[in-house]
Amino acid sequence: MAAGAPLELSLLPETSKVTAGGHLEIGGVDVVAAANELGTPVFLYDEAHLRARCAEAAAAFGDGVAYATKAFLCTAMAGLALEEGLCLDVATGGELAVALRAGASGDRIIFHGNNKSAAELETALDVGVRHIMVDSFDEIARLGDLVGGRRQSVMLRLTPGVEAHTHEFIQTGQEDSKFGFSIASGAAARAVDAVRATTGLELAGVHAHIGSQIFDVASFAKAAEIIAEFFVPLGLGELCVGGGLGVAYLNGERAPSITEWAEVTKAALVGVGVSNEVAVTAEPGRSIAAQAAITVYRVGTMKDLPGIRTYVSVDGGMSDNPRPVLYGSGYETFDPARVQADRPRLGRLVGKHCESGDVLVAEAALPEGLAVGDLLATPVTGAYGYSMASNYNKVPRPPVAFLRNGAARVVIRRETFEDLSTLDL
Ligand code: LLP
Repeated sequence: MAAGAPLELSLLPETSKVTAGGHLEIGGVDVVAAANELGTPVFLYDEAHLRARCAEAAAAFGDGVAYATKAFLCTAMAGLALEEGLCLDVATGGELAVALRAGASGDRIIFHGNNKSAAELETALDVGVRHIMVDSFDEIARLGDLVGGRRQSVMLRLTPGVEAHTHEFIQTGQEDSKFGFSIASGAAARAVDAVRATTGLELAGVHAHIGSQIFDVASFAKAAEIIAEFFVPLGLGELCVGGGLGVAYLNGERAPSITEWAEVTKAALVGVGVSNEVAVTAEPGRSIAAQAAITVYRVGTMKDLPGIRTYVSVDGGMSDNPRPVLYGSGYETFDPARVQADRPRLGRLVGKHCESGDVLVAEAALPEGLAVGDLLATPVTGAYGYSMASNYNKVPRPPVAFLRNGAARVVIRRETFEDLSTLDL
């Protein structure tokens, strides 16, 4: 990446403003003041941004659209998504437990997962979740054993035979997936029969998730056509297109809106014979939460290696954002005390963990005069950041605050050193 330009403000949460002094303000809260008060590292979410994206999804897809809680989940987040009219997509018993703790009724919960245990399924049946997304023949049999006299709505997770990658659409490897029933092999058709032959299970529809961080809505349209061919003859009432809409992480990137995604997908489905009566639903995660948050760190050391590079170390790292290490994902960084400053220096932003791979931004554009003690923030950390955080090196997980109307509400407190040994016997 080329050093130079300031951070593009479009990467920041929706209510972001630059104060007269050049500080970043989110939800009416000065980010520098919030970081000083709450300590660093800290995840700061724009509550209005989260609410706006949830409301947009609810309006674009209609009732039954769910927030994919794997992107970022805590009691406050689940409650917010429910308030804005979304259901909650949970993929494990743990996510289900948090959704229930947040007050979700069964009919607002959709239960996913390729290996749901009997205990997880029993809880789902007990609370009467809206749909269980059935993923295997073993699961159909397990549900048949557990359902008893109850009636449970299920949807079938399909493998559409195509897979979308961030920028292109490929048709290889489609059958090689741990998820779903393959349409091409006939497994999906056999699964329909198996569900229909199981007393107590009601087949409501089908589901397909084609990937994540997809920028091209045409990919969704193309997948929709393949799913529709299987779906239409079944005469079912709901088709869920999963999640996967991409977001911009870097200067210069642009992603479609949730509204555009819904419009293109629905038009494609109607174009291939799906009735207007069918509920077309989705499960956005990243597109709801990612751009809502920034992570604020403090610079602890700077090491200039002449002729090589400058290492800038902050007080977090791969434990609060494993995405660069796991996926080679790129991020921007900026000083929230001078948001609009040029960033003429190149350096490597690294964390405090005991391994060389602990990189947050490999080629970071940095402001002039950056010094030990300054704050540095990474934008677009609201999805798959905290939810994938760890305690590696016994680094306590950062707190999470929702900023709104000039106030910071801590919704997850900072872990303490005592927390780190609560499980030790
Ligand atoms: N529905 C299903 C069935 C999914 O498997 C996923 C994501 C979603 C919905 C939500 O997708 P989204 O709208 O967030 O793209 N840890 C990775 C992302 C893994 C996504 C897994 N499934 C990352 O950090 O990029």
